[in-house]
Amino acid sequence: MPRKIFVTNALPYANGDIHLGHLVGYIQADIWVRFQRMRGNTVHYVCADDTHGTPVMLRAEKEGLTPETLIARVHGEHLRDFTDFGIAFDNYHSTHSEETRRYAEDIYARLKAAGLIEQRAIEQFYDPVKEMFLPDRYIKGECPKCGAADQYGDNCEVCGAAYAPTELKNPRSAVSGATPVQRASEHYFFRLSDPRAAAFLRGWTRGESRPGVRRLPSEAANKMREWLGEEGENRLSDWDISRDAPYFGFEIPDAPGKYFYVWLDAPVGYLASFRNLADQRGGIAVEDYIDAGKAATADTEMVHFIGKDILYFHALFWPAMLEFSGYRTPSQLCVNGFLTVNGAKMSKSRGTFITARSWLDQKLAPEALRYYFAGKSNGSLEDIDLNLDDMVARVNADLVGKFVNIASRCAGFIGKRFDGRLGEIDAPAAEAFAAAWAADEIAAAFEARDYSRALREIMRLADLANQYVNEHKPWELAKQSGKDAELHAVCSTALTLFRDLARYLKPVLPALAAQAEEFLAVEPFDWQGEWQALPAGHRIAPYRHLAARIERAQIDALLEANRDSLAAVAPAAATTPVAAAATPVISVDDFAKVDLRVARIVEASYVEGAEKLLRLTLDIGEEKPRQVFAGIKSAYAPEALAGRLTVMVANLAPRKMKFGLSEGMVLAASDPDGKAGIHLLSPDSGATPGMRVK
Ligand code: MSP
Ligand code: ZN
Repeated sequence: MPRKIFVTNALPYANGDIHLGHLVGYIQADIWVRFQRMRGNTVHYVCADDTHGTPVMLRAEKEGLTPETLIARVHGEHLRDFTDFGIAFDNYHSTHSEETRRYAEDIYARLKAAGLIEQRAIEQFYDPVKEMFLPDRYIKGECPKCGAADQYGDNCEVCGAAYAPTELKNPRSAVSGATPVQRASEHYFFRLSDPRAAAFLRGWTRGESRPGVRRLPSEAANKMREWLGEEGENRLSDWDISRDAPYFGFEIPDAPGKYFYVWLDAPVGYLASFRNLADQRGGIAVEDYIDAGKAATADTEMVHFIGKDILYFHALFWPAMLEFSGYRTPSQLCVNGFLTVNGAKMSKSRGTFITARSWLDQKLAPEALRYYFAGKSNGSLEDIDLNLDDMVARVNADLVGKFVNIASRCAGFIGKRFDGRLGEIDAPAAEAFAAAWAADEIAAAFEARDYSRALREIMRLADLANQYVNEHKPWELAKQSGKDAELHAVCSTALTLFRDLARYLKPVLPALAAQAEEFLAVEPFDWQGEWQALPAGHRIAPYRHLAARIERAQIDALLEANRDSLAAVAPAAATTPVAAAATPVISVDDFAKVDLRVARIVEASYVEGAEKLLRLTLDIGEEKPRQVFAGIKSAYAPEALAGRLTVMVANLAPRKMKFGLSEGMVLAASDPDGKAGIHLLSPDSGATPGMRVK
């Protein structure tokens, strides 16, 4: 039975440009959606701009626009950026819409009827000049802990302390500069402290969306356990869902001058965008996807792709809102880590705060970024680093050097010598190749959003295909007489292999796959049915160049275009690269004593009673796999590791540990105090278990 899935991406704020950091999550979702559709599943994929709140209101004012005009302009820009990166939403709507208002009011009314809305007065900072209550982010002052000047109202960027804005010394309004005063105001709260909420969330966060698939990634589920506390304990506090005028948003029914807080109506925008799609298109039974009762009968899924910074909203507030108002709760949250560029936080002064538009302006292929991000995505919350040199090398080597190379070396002969028609394929070779294909494994990796594993496997097959071409040398066959049949077979076989690769790369590289479909003159690739060779006599189109190499000069221009020379240099802690510690010089012979090997992680698991360790089973081409205990539990979920390659020290003396024998060590990078995380090494594609690293 085909699955019926409603997929969303987090709604970007309408007060800024889309940048490469945003694109991580959108590309991951789009790949998944395309994969599901190739498998024959029904997917409705929507997004929208998140338009409400103080920042949009103030920015519009600064630009001399109404908020409505500002959000209309940004909506156009965002949609164009997404479209140009191949992110193909079925609908891109706005939270400033009638549908959002309707659903928000409905959910609110039902929560109220369930006794979960409460009203009470709270004290807040008020700007007497601007005549508005100030969100924490708009109050600045001196840190109450370390005294650092110019800190925001919620936490200190110098010492990291968190506090209430009223604790700041010498507070002032970032809007008008006035000294804020404390003032009381009535607020509306969603009563998350109600025992029903904690009880529901405790079960929900541990649940499965489908057999064997957890609702939350395990790292996130652990966090939730922290947030929720133990059974019987209740750590959740009520959630303030109202804001006072002036506010750009929806007024709360029967509460003049009070508005829904932006985070109340933001996720409601998912439902609104879907409803708007159905109204435009017809034929979509929205209720089957969003009504609690109907969704259960119709066996539909609702899957949200979000970044890890907004997990709290999606794993606590949102499911509770839905549950207690009769809507269906999310089936699954797919959570992405944060993007760093060249190993550091994106920075305007270094030019690494790269907008989506500037990438396109430098004529960099959007699919180069899709390919690189996919290669770095393994379905976990780990941060993703865009290393620009590595990106250039990998795209050039894999896409141009391996994938396109197969077609470009064979297509010409078919065109010139055989009138564009394919011949019989080399059956033994095709069979051997089919046997090597791990199509099911590739599909499982796509399903689990472990695109990095899928691509490694696909590139392994690209290597085999290139090997085949190298061994048979069509360019030499073409010069010899009497070798026409062989030349025909070799080129036809290679193009069939190229077709297979293009098909499996299609979720990641839809435009390149479409070009391949056109060149091969075949129906759009899907991922169903039996494997078939391209038939003899089939006529292909003339070959046109499929992909260009990336030049380093394009990258330099990209950084230059994004460099904001006026941007303040960010605080040292966030930017200094890890200093290399002074270590004694060693000789080549000393180094040669270390036997480093490429290892495949066959299995990874938690170790009962160990705080930091994971147990790894490593294949380095020996008869028996090795067991190694590695201190990487804080950085990796075991399921994210199985199947991937890394590097190990193979001749380290075995060590007896409390949990068993450790027969080596895997290599990982980290800074001295471990604050920047732990990062396992992995070889480029093509490496195989047991290869020596030197
Ligand atoms: N408007 C909220 C989401 C509301 S969803 C009901 C928001 N907007 S955002 O524009 O700040 O971010 C949009 C998405 O991009 C979020 O999933 C966020 O986590 C993600 N990212 C923003 N910056 C990012 C990086 N630097 N790296 C990876 N993802 C990032 O949050
Ligand atoms: Zn401080």
